[in-house]
Amino acid sequence: MTASAQPRAAQPASSSADTQRRRVDTRFRGILSLDDFERAARRRLPRPIFGYVSGGVEDGLSLDDNRRAFAEYGLLPRFLAGVAGRSAQATLFGRTYASPFGIAPMGIVALSGYRGDIALASAAAGAGIPMIISGSSLIPLETIAAAGDRPWFQIYLPPDLARTDALLDRVARAKIETLVVTVDVAVPGNRENNLRTGFSTPLRPTPRLAWDGLTRPRWLLGTFARTLVRHGMPHFENSFATRGAPIMSRNVEREFSGRAHLDWSVIRHIRARWQGPLVIKGLLDPADVRCAIEAGADGIIASNHGGRQLDSAVSPLRTLPAMVDAAGGRPVMLDGGIRRGTDVMKALALGARFVFVGRPFNYATAFGGHDGVAYAIRILHDEVVRTMGALGINALAQMTPDRLVPVPPR
Ligand code: FNR
Repeated sequence: MTASAQPRAAQPASSSADTQRRRVDTRFRGILSLDDFERAARRRLPRPIFGYVSGGVEDGLSLDDNRRAFAEYGLLPRFLAGVAGRSAQATLFGRTYASPFGIAPMGIVALSGYRGDIALASAAAGAGIPMIISGSSLIPLETIAAAGDRPWFQIYLPPDLARTDALLDRVARAKIETLVVTVDVAVPGNRENNLRTGFSTPLRPTPRLAWDGLTRPRWLLGTFARTLVRHGMPHFENSFATRGAPIMSRNVEREFSGRAHLDWSVIRHIRARWQGPLVIKGLLDPADVRCAIEAGADGIIASNHGGRQLDSAVSPLRTLPAMVDAAGGRPVMLDGGIRRGTDVMKALALGARFVFVGRPFNYATAFGGHDGVAYAIRILHDEVVRTMGALGINALAQMTPDRLVPVPPR
């Protein structure tokens, strides 16, 4: 893709392209940056659901650090560098993507927007970027995969190998190529904000929850009631090979499988069974990166889970260069706090091969479904391409560490 080209989703190909673009632009008037989707979604979503998406754990220190870490670098542009032919394409595991970013796995997104996972998968496919299906999603992975273009799939480790194998076999049957194993969940995070806002899985029907829904009628009718009428009560479909708990119930308990006993041997076991690229998500320490590579991982996603697991866990940007050194040439990807094209470029300068973005795409699903996500992707893609031009580079590989200057926290 060249500087002037757009991701496919951003340019309707039909003769009604102009009309459609105008319609889309009108709907998203006022949405100029990824953060604008957060403001829009806050007005659209019931309080417990917005709180679930936006929140972190405890005091939000990691959540804040994920943004601050980017602000602590300035960029060093070069000029008259001939940047008319720049391309934001990035290659991972033999596939070339239109932009160096993808959609991070997010559970329960079908509660944010109608058939949310499908909106994410189809918009990502249209724009030529990867989307990672969450293991905590509410639509069968086979259905989501059919709506996308070879999305990746993320698992949380089941407590025993029998259920791990059954899940892997199901994922392989769905023709998923790239498997992501999230390992930063030995114990559940301390999400006090969920208790404060009344969010739980399953959701408990209470007068307060009913009130939260009634005060957001567009969500109540357009997402929740529409889902119930057309597809029935959503369930956790992809945590195991078999269906899990419903998303709303008075008395059903969701199985939060104990994972405290697991160690790296489970990754070696998965490696022996999984044929495609294997990615380990949630690492921050270079020593763990070495463990992952030794266990057979093809790449890692550096992440503190968007500040949702261990409060005070450092931003992955801070340990990224050491993790890249430890990865011995395997791709190191990163997520957490990326909101601007300049953030993408800073992560690449420090050695990330690719980045993922979570919450903004969730908000975009809530606000505008497939079109909202396509719009959000276009905003970030345009920012990346513009930043490349302003920095004086034509290819992502030119984004080297000497383009960064540490600056005092602003
Ligand atoms: C997540 N994240 C996540 N990670 C994962 O491996 N499996 C999952 O099911 C989920 N679910 C989930 C739900 C929601 C609502 C959020 C916000 C996040 C973490 C996610 O993949 C990613 O690491 C962070 O969201 C990245 O940070 P930003 O981009 O949201 O700041």
